[in-house]
Amino acid sequence: MMLLQCQSNGLGVQHNMTYAAITGWGKCLPPAALTNADLATFLDTDDEWIKTRTGMQERRISHVSVSDLGYIAALRALAAAGKTVDDVELIVFGSCTPDQICPNVASRVQELLGAGRAACMDVNTACTSFLYGLTTASSMLRTGAVKSAIVIGAEVISPIMDWDNRNVAVLFGDGAAAVYLEASDHKEGLLDQQLGCYGEVRDILTVHGWGMKYANQEMQMGNSYWQFEGQEIFKRAVVGMVSASNSVLERNQLSSRDVDLVVPHQANLRIIDAVAKRADIEPEKVFVNVHRYGNMSAATVAVALVESIEEGRVNPGDHILLPAFGGGLSWCAHLIKWGERIQPIGQSGAELPACNKTALELVDELRASKAPRTALQGLMI
Ligand code: UT7
Repeated sequence: MMLLQCQSNGLGVQHNMTYAAITGWGKCLPPAALTNADLATFLDTDDEWIKTRTGMQERRISHVSVSDLGYIAALRALAAAGKTVDDVELIVFGSCTPDQICPNVASRVQELLGAGRAACMDVNTACTSFLYGLTTASSMLRTGAVKSAIVIGAEVISPIMDWDNRNVAVLFGDGAAAVYLEASDHKEGLLDQQLGCYGEVRDILTVHGWGMKYANQEMQMGNSYWQFEGQEIFKRAVVGMVSASNSVLERNQLSSRDVDLVVPHQANLRIIDAVAKRADIEPEKVFVNVHRYGNMSAATVAVALVESIEEGRVNPGDHILLPAFGGGLSWCAHLIKWGERIQPIGQSGAELPACNKTALELVDELRASKAPRTALQGLMI
C-alpha cells in the first residue's frame, strides 16, 4: 500500500490511500433493433424528424428482463477483469426500471452469477444511476468497506413506454453494461465527481403509473403515462452537465484541454453538441453512439464507456470526463483516470437466449397490452 501523509487530522498520522481501479468492462444489448421507419408505422413521425432533432436512427427492444441483461453484462465485465464470481464483494445495480423492487435486482444478479460473497444494492437516479452507482461503489472501495465491486447500468424501458406518445416513444431504448472495480494503490479509476439535482423541476420528467403512489388506483403496472417537457429538460440538462463538468475539472486543476475523452449521456445529439461547445471541448474528443441505441437511461454512459474502450478511443492514463443528467432532475460529471490495461484479460461465452421476434413485433405486443391513453390520463395523480 502506498503511504500518504494524512491531511485531515493534522497529527501526521499516515493512512493508506486506496483507489478503485476499473479493470473489467462488458455490455449486453438485446438484439432486436427498432428503426425510425418502424416507429413511423404506428406514430405520426418520420426518419428525417427523429434524425435531425435527436441524432437517433435505431434503438434496441429487449425480449428479456433487465436483470438478465445486467447479468450477461456482469459476466462479460468479470471475464475482462480476469476475475471469478468468488472475487465479487459488492454488486451495485443502477436502474430506474427494476423488474422487482423487493427483492432488489442486484440480489437477482448475485443469484444468477452465484456470487454468494457479494453485498447487493440498487441505485436509482434515473439516467444517471450507473454514475451514481459508480460513486457509491468507488467510495466503498476507497474507505475499505469492500475490495471489489461490479457496477451495472441497465434499463428495460420498453414495457413502461407510452408507445402512443411520439414525444417520448422515439427517444428511448433498452440495454446494459457493467464495470468491475478493484482496490488499487495506483491513482486511477474514479478520481472525483460533481453530483447534483434540480428537485424543484422534478415533475418535468415523470412516468405516471410507475411506483407505489399508483397502487390501488386501478392503474396496472406498465400502463404508464409520461409527463415530459422536452425543451425544459433540454435546457436544464445542458446547464447541469456544463456546470458539473466545470466544477469537477476546476477542483482537480484540469482544463478542458487536459481531458482526453468525453463520454456523455446520450439523450440527444444536440444536447451533446451544446455541452461540448459550452464546456469548450473539441468535438473529436466526444464519444457518440446515440444513433445506434437512442437513450438507454442508466445503461447509456455504461455502454458508451465500454464501446469507447472497444473502439480504441481509450488510452492508458487517459483522463475521461462523463457528464450526464436524468429524471429528478439529477445531473453530474465524473472524472476517471484510466489505468494501464486497455485490453480485456478474458472473454465470456455467455449469451442471451435467442430472440425470435422483430423489435416491431415486440413493441406491437406491448402496445396491445396497454389501456387506452385517455383512460390513463384520468388516473394521473
Ligand atoms: O434522459 C432524459 C430524457 N429526456 C430528454 O432527453 C429530453 C431532452 N429534450 C429533447 O431531446 C428535445 O426537446 C426533443 C427531442 C424531446 C424534442 O425536440 P425539440 O426540438 O425540442 O422539438 P419540440 O418539442 O419543440 O417539437 C417541435 C415539433 C412539435 O410540433 P409543433 O408543435 O411545432 O407543430 C412537436 O409536436 O415537433 C413535433 N414533434 C414530432 N414530430 C415528429 C415532437 N415529437 C415528434 C416526433 N416526430 N417524434
